[in-house]
Amino acid sequence: MKVLITRSIPDHFIARLRQLAEVEVYPETIKAMPKNALLEAAKDKEIIISMLSDKIDKDFIDRNPQLKAVINLAVGYDNIDIEYARSKGIIVCNTPDVLTETTAELGFTLMLTTARRIVEASELVKTGNWVGWSPYLLAGLDVYGKTVGIYGMGSIGVALARRCKGINMHIQYHNRSESQYAAELGADYVSFDELLEKSDFIVCTAPLTNETKGIFNQAAFNKMKSSAIFINIGRGGHVIDEDLLEAIQSESIYAAGVDVLNNEPVGKDHPFLTDNRITVLPHIGSATVDTRDAMIELCIKNAELILQDKSPVSQVK
Ligand code: DGY
Repeated sequence: MKVLITRSIPDHFIARLRQLAEVEVYPETIKAMPKNALLEAAKDKEIIISMLSDKIDKDFIDRNPQLKAVINLAVGYDNIDIEYARSKGIIVCNTPDVLTETTAELGFTLMLTTARRIVEASELVKTGNWVGWSPYLLAGLDVYGKTVGIYGMGSIGVALARRCKGINMHIQYHNRSESQYAAELGADYVSFDELLEKSDFIVCTAPLTNETKGIFNQAAFNKMKSSAIFINIGRGGHVIDEDLLEAIQSESIYAAGVDVLNNEPVGKDHPFLTDNRITVLPHIGSATVDTRDAMIELCIKNAELILQDKSPVSQVK
């Protein structure tokens, strides 16, 4: 069988697959494989190890009838038309569990960073504009003891809730179903509206689906407290960008911190960057060396098993 890896990864991982298959690797480390290059390289490959930036849609699947498996280097797989892949018998794998703590940690970091205006503070010093201590200089909001509303109480939501509990926050969440960890966390299951209306921090950790697309829109931001901070570590597609910007500019909410954006990567002219109250990160939720190693390891393991005609360990069901 032939395997395509759509981004450069450490050689020792590739060497393992080369013992079992012919492997082509797109040599870029940072830039996504252009659509045409991906289509060209994929056409004789049975297995693709893909990145979340690769669109594996109906058209791509139709053009690649030889495809047996897509192994996505991410827990989210909204870049893949999962229903269509399934209907064609294509195995889809992702990287759950190994990135849970790291991604929750980034969510928690964004809560603190945004509330305490850390990016602005650092910029003030870097640009030589710090003229002295003053009582309300860069005064932000407290986080401890406040109410966090977690939208999406999967494993990342639970890991985030544990961190919030550590600083005495009250936890409420909204999810498709109640979490088995709610009692241990003292977390309250609430309606989406209640989550919006009664939380000081609203954190989106949910996967992007047709149901959750654009759920953080004008109506949702209007229901939040004027002191609320909105954090997104799910996917950019959950948010209507103009509505978030309007909510910030009209001071209908206090601030936002986003690690994920519509149409990534965005440039320096992105409207969110015009307002200091929006902290923007370049999708680094799971970006620690240990976690990225573990994610790649899981992808390689899945590919090895599929190449040996065995069941992969993390197939999306
Ligand atoms: C994922 O795995 O889905 C994350 O967004 C990657 O950082």
